[in-house]
Amino acid sequence: MALGSHAVTAADAVQTSVKIETKNQGAVINKAIYGQFMEHLGRGIYEGVWVGEDSKIPNTKGYRKDVLAALKELQVPLLRWPGGCFADEYHWRDGIGPRDKRPATVNTTWGGVTDDNAFGTHEFMTFAEMLGAEVYINGNLGTGTPQEMAAWLEYLTSDSQSTLANMRRANGRDKPWKVDYFAIGNEAWGCGGTMTPEYYTNLYKHYATFLKTPEDNRPILIASGGHTDQTEWTTTLMENVPETWSMRMDAISHHYYTLPTGDWAKHGAALGFNESEWFDTMFNTLRIEDFIKTNTAIMDKHDPEKKVGFYVDEWGTWYDVAEGDNPGFLYQQNSLRDAVLAGLNLNIFHAYAERVRMSNIAQMVNVLQAMILTDKEKMLLTPTYHVFKMYIPFQDATSLPISIKGENSYVLGDKEIPMVSASAAISTSGKYYLALVNAHPSESRKLAIEADKTFSRVKGQVLTADAMDAHNTFKQPNNLQPKAYKQKAKDGKLILDLPAKSVVVVELLD
Ligand code: AHR
Repeated sequence: MALGSHAVTAADAVQTSVKIETKNQGAVINKAIYGQFMEHLGRGIYEGVWVGEDSKIPNTKGYRKDVLAALKELQVPLLRWPGGCFADEYHWRDGIGPRDKRPATVNTTWGGVTDDNAFGTHEFMTFAEMLGAEVYINGNLGTGTPQEMAAWLEYLTSDSQSTLANMRRANGRDKPWKVDYFAIGNEAWGCGGTMTPEYYTNLYKHYATFLKTPEDNRPILIASGGHTDQTEWTTTLMENVPETWSMRMDAISHHYYTLPTGDWAKHGAALGFNESEWFDTMFNTLRIEDFIKTNTAIMDKHDPEKKVGFYVDEWGTWYDVAEGDNPGFLYQQNSLRDAVLAGLNLNIFHAYAERVRMSNIAQMVNVLQAMILTDKEKMLLTPTYHVFKMYIPFQDATSLPISIKGENSYVLGDKEIPMVSASAAISTSGKYYLALVNAHPSESRKLAIEADKTFSRVKGQVLTADAMDAHNTFKQPNNLQPKAYKQKAKDGKLILDLPAKSVVVVELLD
């Protein structure tokens, strides 16, 4: 073509295209992928959720009103409790009955603080009911017994006239509760008992044999698996836990925390980082895809029908505790970097939704990559909260195959990661959604959206800011919030501008 024979249009500048297949639908994105984790750790429960009925902080039956309202908006589908490491030292009988008669216990794992056990089984189950969330209870394998674990499940689920069921009734709950998920231990390789995979697998079978519930109230039973790049837990469990009338293993859990440095001796700071720390954080978080691939490939050999789930039931960022804070409380600020990272992880979980049918970000309030931070009566919503809210349409949606073509790399030094990550789905109400994440902190991208169906406009929200560590504070809680995002096709081409360091979620419209 002769020079100057045609005007340069925006479409010519497009170097990257995103192709969505609407006719070839994938797996359902279980809403439980959006699960939240609440542990007796720092101010995660006490102050963060539970302040007690006599508190000056406005509350409904002891639960703080502001946090409850924010979590309702978030449509939290699932809550995991009471830990984490705490679960393997938690004795459920300490947390039932009149609150003024409950024993005070020491939280030896997290900060050595005294727990008055005001938040126990009834408080947790009621909280989940108030939110309309499914429940995931983590049983105590480390310092408990099969009898204690079985009795907890009986207390929760039995409709009989047994002493335990009647004790629940006397404590104010007539009907049995539904227990959706139940785990036998946590991090058995570490705080859960420093076990080998073989030893834990035997214990899993031992305990699981005695966990009896009414037939119509059987929780999904979860085995404690490995972490990071480990695969031996998955191998040993898959090879040795048989499926019989008295034995089940419905899922294996896996934990992966993202540290900017990748070094547990010095994690990296939550704020005030440079581009190299930004890049390393993205690089490290994307490793989760390999961990999912290698573990699920092992599972596929033993379970080609994918009956057993692979649950990433602890994930998120873990920074250095700020100076002056209690190191056992794991309180950290949350910035745009956390928001971008959350989008990347969610897009990966969607892509592996066939096996990854549940995940829990750690943790919901005031701990690690939280949705909500509180300071006595004050509360703020973090950038991660906003991403979880933007992604609500993906809960229980059906994933759609998606591919990114053209230029899509972010290189720093000798390392490279994809710049844009994307996920598409058709929601339970039949609407099409697209989530886009730009992991590059300074380059925007024009994306041509192509599909086997005509989409001529999009509408949704974008979360971005000028600073990599933009965040909300108690003085400026609305500093970083999503903004409306709309674009229309021109000349039959739908081209979206994806700002640097951003998360965009849009509905695709005809
Ligand atoms: O989320 C904090 C801790 O991290 C959990 O208690 C434990 O399971 C993990 O090591």
